[in-house]
This record gives sequence, structure tokens and C-alpha cells, in this order.
Amino acid sequence: MPEAILGISAFYHDSAAALVVDGKIIAAAHEERFTRQKQDSSFPHHAVAYVLDEAGLDLKDITAVAFYDKPYLKFERLLETYHGFAPKGLKSFLSAMPVWIKEKLFMRQMLREEFKKLGSADPKLLFPEHHLSHAASAFYPSPFSEAAILTLDGVGEWATCTIGAGKDNRVEILRELDFPHSLGLLYSAFTYYCGFKVNSGEYKLMGLAPYGREGSPQVEKWKELILAEMVDLREDGSFLLNMDYFDYATGLTMCVDNAWHKLFGLPRRESETELDQNYMDMALAIQEVTEEIVLRLAKTARELTQCKYLVMAGGVALNCVANGKLLRSGLFSDIWIQPASGDAGGALGAAFAGWHVFLDKPRQCTGLDTMQGALLGPEYGTKEILKIARRYNAPHQTYDDFGDLCAKAAELLEDGQVVGWFQGRMEYGPRALGNRSILGDARHPEMQKKLNLKIKYREGFRPFAPSVIDECISEFFELDRPSPYMLLVAPVRKERLKPLPDGYDSLPLYDRLYHLRSDVPAITHIDYSARIQSVNKDVHPRYWQLIDAFRRRTGYGVIVNTSFNVRGEPIVCTPEDAYRCFMGTEMDYLVIGDFLFKKEEQPQYDNRDYWQQKYELD
Ligand SMILES: [Fe+2]
Repeated sequence: MPEAILGISAFYHDSAAALVVDGKIIAAAHEERFTRQKQDSSFPHHAVAYVLDEAGLDLKDITAVAFYDKPYLKFERLLETYHGFAPKGLKSFLSAMPVWIKEKLFMRQMLREEFKKLGSADPKLLFPEHHLSHAASAFYPSPFSEAAILTLDGVGEWATCTIGAGKDNRVEILRELDFPHSLGLLYSAFTYYCGFKVNSGEYKLMGLAPYGREGSPQVEKWKELILAEMVDLREDGSFLLNMDYFDYATGLTMCVDNAWHKLFGLPRRESETELDQNYMDMALAIQEVTEEIVLRLAKTARELTQCKYLVMAGGVALNCVANGKLLRSGLFSDIWIQPASGDAGGALGAAFAGWHVFLDKPRQCTGLDTMQGALLGPEYGTKEILKIARRYNAPHQTYDDFGDLCAKAAELLEDGQVVGWFQGRMEYGPRALGNRSILGDARHPEMQKKLNLKIKYREGFRPFAPSVIDECISEFFELDRPSPYMLLVAPVRKERLKPLPDGYDSLPLYDRLYHLRSDVPAITHIDYSARIQSVNKDVHPRYWQLIDAFRRRTGYGVIVNTSFNVRGEPIVCTPEDAYRCFMGTEMDYLVIGDFLFKKEEQPQYDNRDYWQQKYELD
């Protein structure tokens, strides 16, 4: 009988389950994809049932269940924090504590009850700490037998940031920075102040930063103010936050708005209101401070461990702009970042910690990462796709030869069509990597606008990512290695860039955005960078084959890839989710497996009126 560890992340945000059998990842998935509730934080019943099914196991066959948090430590942090800040935190203490007492402290009992519902009376329960789970998720599936480990996120139990070392099957935490001093929460506070949602808007803030005026007096002054008043940054990257500016330790909001207004001379932006240059400058200021902190921490990690490789996880490790700079700094020969770096990835880390740390099982390192392209979720066969075609009486064509389907899809892309692309196993982690993706031609001058406003129904300033086949990476980007998980930002090659018009800097945001900055404008961000996903022929054969078909038609081995969802919804999971999303947007074609779906009549667009007014769609 195989030995299996079930990892679970739940009750905070973004629940997930992962299954490691005899040391190998069999499956991992986010609960939100099944329940269709974005960042679903409930017990991941569906994800657990799915990962067990994938392995052909029942809960009674599981060696142990590893939960990504130590509930008692977290409870202790809450008590001590409230104690330390009393009486200011009384209001949130009263509203938060009953939930914590009821749900978190009795986690063990709750988990047992949930497992009973799933058919097992009493699985063995393990509780690796939050940051051990992140560290394990970064090191064990990485291609390195030995590496420095950096975990950076909002908060776990006490730790917000750790530096560790991984060797063979051991992970050791060497340094830790504790709550409330948190890089993740600092970034989230700026996310909140700039009018975006905490826990999901951080990516938007990072996308906004390049619109800030680099080196301008305002950005430089704000960086100085942040470092003088808010963040006491030490040479080794550790820091203390001045809690006069932050309310998350005791209050129910992130910032002390009045204090920020006084410091920056800028009020908090109400969400969905016009974005002016000030907030772009603010986004750039905090991005640059974040990069400085990450670089210093990485330097300390290098000195402490003497390792030439670095692995990373935790929400801040999704800051691909900082990751790109870290790579280019040359501090480490190579870095590897867990694609599911947020709390959902804690499920996989907990499972690995269970296997290697608690059970002390050896680790075989082959020099390749064992994430299988992060394609670890459910897949659906011809029968399921056919059912959708029948249920919706959907016009479609099936292809016996996948090469013919790729050739057809490449032709559609070249023609400026937007194609939904659904193949094989769903991605684990926040990014769609070509199995649940919406695709377009990166060269097309209108593609970015079309995707933003007619398909994704979202703010237009956010850049799209390119998927480029491994063989063409350096043809398009200043990058000398693969970036399979879309976690590195690198410059577009100089010879592909186009000059800017006079007075460009004073143009409004959307005029700047839609200026054609290169021969692949849809994926070239405002600062001539791109958030790159490279595609390997062996790991991701079907997606590679499509992009290669496009390359053979056009000479460009690169396309636009955005996740298959609309604003506010999780990425699609099933063929039915995909078909419904397809019919609810202005997507032109949809490929699921060997099926090509098209639209016969124009659908009704839910959000069209809103976007029509907002952006004057034509
Ligand atoms: Fe975390």
C-alpha cells in the first residue's frame, strides 16, 4: 500500500488540498475552483475528494493529514497582540475573538468532524507551522538538493518572514521576523490606501507601479518618508514597522488613514474612482521599497547559508517584478519560486513537511523541479466535453489530429480572434499556464484593449503576460533561462521596441497604456517589461504545439495568455464553466480538448452597459 500525506490549507483565505504519495505530488487544487467562490476559505471538501480520487485512495488509506498552520500558536499571537495594544483593540477583539475561539482553537476537533463527513473516523493529524509549510513548498519540489529559503508573506502564526536552509530532506528555519512587522501587510496597506482590495489587489498595485515617475521628486520623497517614518529598515533586511501608521494589529482596517494623509499629503483613494498620477507614484514608491527589502533579505540568506541557489514562497514571492530584479542582481546563480506561493500552496508544503520532516523520508533530487508544470488539478475527457456540446446544443467541430486543431487555432489567433484554450489538468496556484487560458495574438495592436474590456471586464492598466516557447525566450526577452510559472519579469529586447511620441509622459493613463511600445504590444508593459511564462515541449506538450504552430505561421513563438475567467470569478475548472464563460463574454472561439466551439449568435453581455459607459467601447 502506498504511503500518502494529505495537505490542507483552510479557514483563512484560499483553501486548498494537496496529496503527496510516496514522496511524489499526485494532485493539488484550490477549493474555489470547485465551489466557484473566489478565494473560498471553507474546509476544502471538494478539493480533498478530488485529490483522493486522483490517487484512487480513500481517506482511511491516508498515512497522515497535515494542516498548514499551528492553531494554538495563532491563537497565542492574537491574545498577545490584543493584550499588547489594549485598550485600543477592544472593538476588533470583541468582534474577532469569538470567531477565533470557536473556529481556530478547536481546529483539531473541527478537522476530525470534517473528516468524519468524508468517511474516516480518525486520521493522524500533523500541524507543521505556517512558515515551515511555505518553506517546505519552496524547497522540496525545487530542482536543488541544497538551497537558501526565503518565505515572505502577510502573517502566519507569529512569523511574517523567514530565512532558512534546505538540504536533502531537511529544512531548517534560521531567522524569523515576527508580527506585526510584515512585508506582506506593509504592501497590503499600500494596496488598501491606493483603493484596491487587500489579499487580491496586491497584483494590481504591482501592475500600477511602472506608471509611477521613476526618479521623480515625488517618488523619491515618498520613498524617503516610508523609510524614515514607517519602516525602520536594517542592513540585513529585517525591519520594524511604526505601528502609529498601521491598524491591522488591533483594528479592522489596514491603515491609520489620517496619519497617512498627513505624511503623504494624499487622501486614501476610494475604490473604482479615477486613478491619478499620485497613486501611480505611490505604487512605485512602495514597490521600490519592497524590492530593496527583498534584496537585503536575500543577501542575508546568501551570507547565512553560503548556498548559491535560492527558493522562495509566501504571498510576496508572487511579486514577479521584485523576483526579476533579484535574479538580475546575480546574488544567486539561480532562484526557484513555488508557483502556488500564496496560502493555497501551504497545503502542498504541509504535505511535504509531513513526508520529509515528520516521517523523515528521504528526498531524491534529480535536478528538475517536481511540480509537473503546476498542472496538478482535474482533467476531463471526451465524454464530458461531448455532454456540454449536447446540453447547450453548441456548434462545434472535432479534430482527429491535434496538429490540425493547433493549425486552425493558430490561424484564428493570427486573424485577431480571441480563443479560450482548455486542455488537460487544471493549474495549481493563482496563474493560468495554458490549460485554463484565454489566448490572443501579442502583435495585434488592439488585443490588449479587446481582452481587457470585452473579455475580462476589468481595469485596463494591468498588463497581459506572454507565453513563449523555451526555444524563443531570448529572441523576445532579456532573459537567459526558463520562467515556467510566470513569476519573473524581464525587459522586452531593445530591438523590438518602438519610440515614444513627444509629450508621452503627460498623456492620460489609458493613452499611455495603449500606445504601441513594441512589435508585441499586447504583452509589453508600460516600462517595456513583460511577465514571462516560458513553455517547455516535454512538460506542456499541447500548449507548446499550439504556440509552435503559431510560430510556423507568423515567425512569432509567443502569444498572449490570460487566465480563463472574468473579473471577480475564479479560473474555470470544468468544461461547463469554460463554456458558460465563453458564452458570457465576447470571446470568439473556444477549444476544449479536441473540440473547437464557435458562436452562432451574439450572446448577452452581463456587464456591457457598465463598461460601455466607462470606456466608450466601440
Ligand atoms: Fe502565508
